[in-house]
Amino acid sequence: MTKIISGFSKLSKNEKIQWLSENYFSAQPEIINTIQQYWNADEKLQQLHDDFIENTISNFYLPYGVAPNFMINGKNYTVPMVIEESSVVAAASLVAKFWSTRGGFKSEVIGTTKIGQVHFMFEGNKEELATYFEQQKEHLYAATAAITKNMEKRGGGILDIVLVDKTAELANYYQLHVTFETKDSMGANFINSCLEAIAKAFRKEDIEIVMSILSNYVPECVVRAEVSCKIEELGGADPHQFAQKFEQAVKIAEIEPYRAVTHNKGIMNGIDAVVLATGNDFRAIEAGAHAYATKEGRYSSLTHCEIANGMFRFWIEIPLALGTVGGLTALHPMAKLSLDLLQNPSAPELMQIIATAGLAQNFAALRALTTSGIQEGHMKMHLMNILNQLNANEAEKEAVVAYFKGKTVTHSAVVEKYQELKGAN
Ligand code: MEV
Repeated sequence: MTKIISGFSKLSKNEKIQWLSENYFSAQPEIINTIQQYWNADEKLQQLHDDFIENTISNFYLPYGVAPNFMINGKNYTVPMVIEESSVVAAASLVAKFWSTRGGFKSEVIGTTKIGQVHFMFEGNKEELATYFEQQKEHLYAATAAITKNMEKRGGGILDIVLVDKTAELANYYQLHVTFETKDSMGANFINSCLEAIAKAFRKEDIEIVMSILSNYVPECVVRAEVSCKIEELGGADPHQFAQKFEQAVKIAEIEPYRAVTHNKGIMNGIDAVVLATGNDFRAIEAGAHAYATKEGRYSSLTHCEIANGMFRFWIEIPLALGTVGGLTALHPMAKLSLDLLQNPSAPELMQIIATAGLAQNFAALRALTTSGIQEGHMKMHLMNILNQLNANEAEKEAVVAYFKGKTVTHSAVVEKYQELKGAN
């Protein structure tokens, strides 16, 4: 049977599932059961989720956890995290508690402006283009008046429009480079609507508009979060040695891209989890963060560490274009709940919380990597996944978890212990 279908989106949800079942799963009834098992019993709520995207047939669960005891700029937060990786929430909670007794996290927003561009081609005289741009500038702002009206009331809007000559890199290529302030909204729709209106007003016979779109590179929408304490306060058997090894680990990530990518991935474990929980766009955040990590011309660490005058200092600087109003934030009940849990932060406050979650995650990873190694904690958390894969019941889980207290967890050791237990019963 052919698997090409036209008009798929017009089928009902059940018809879509039926088609999938027949074409890809030999009509096995379990497939339909699995898909339907994840439907919400509340039809209205399910409809809300169905309407987020096209061709929804079910929901895909990820765990929603919380990490308490985050003290940021003297305020306490319990941070919601959506993530499938076993050890992330546990690590965040541990590190939040650790730093809550050492002055907590300090965070500051460095900037909040965002960028959008109208990309266009022009083959004519450069001076004439510059003159035309200057003549049109007022009209370009005016063309967006209906869109910017509400945003301006909230203190945002278009801050600047600049003509950029890119012809040295690509023949005939120019941009209108537009700077925006979008206050508490992420602003993607606002920015794109403004850009399209600007492009329409700017267009003329010899100007060929290629596209108008926001940039997810936001090096001026940046937040910094930091922890510091006296080296002795780091605790452990040898805090000086710990601080030194920790600093070395950060310095390695600063100069070695292979390490930096993994180092930053660990940071994004914390960042993405809160971004997702608050209904923000994690792909935009990821793209922007990794681009920022290359701002010095080589991919590098997003965190930095300094040991000076007996003090340990560890900080992150990261671009985060976030919203606490608009988009999914008000629409997804769990995103709304997350924002309520965070005491309804402004977008800049959410930037501070999320940067802190990234810093905490990186601290946890580097502390483990430079001391016991990562696998000890990782496998301890992964133990439950292995037991679930093995279909262990509650009593078996309890027995295996008790057995592995203080022992090294490996996949094969867990399977062996489980089988031994089964054999005994
Ligand atoms: C795993 O998800 C993240 C780490 O690899 C991060 C790191 O190596 O810094 C543990």
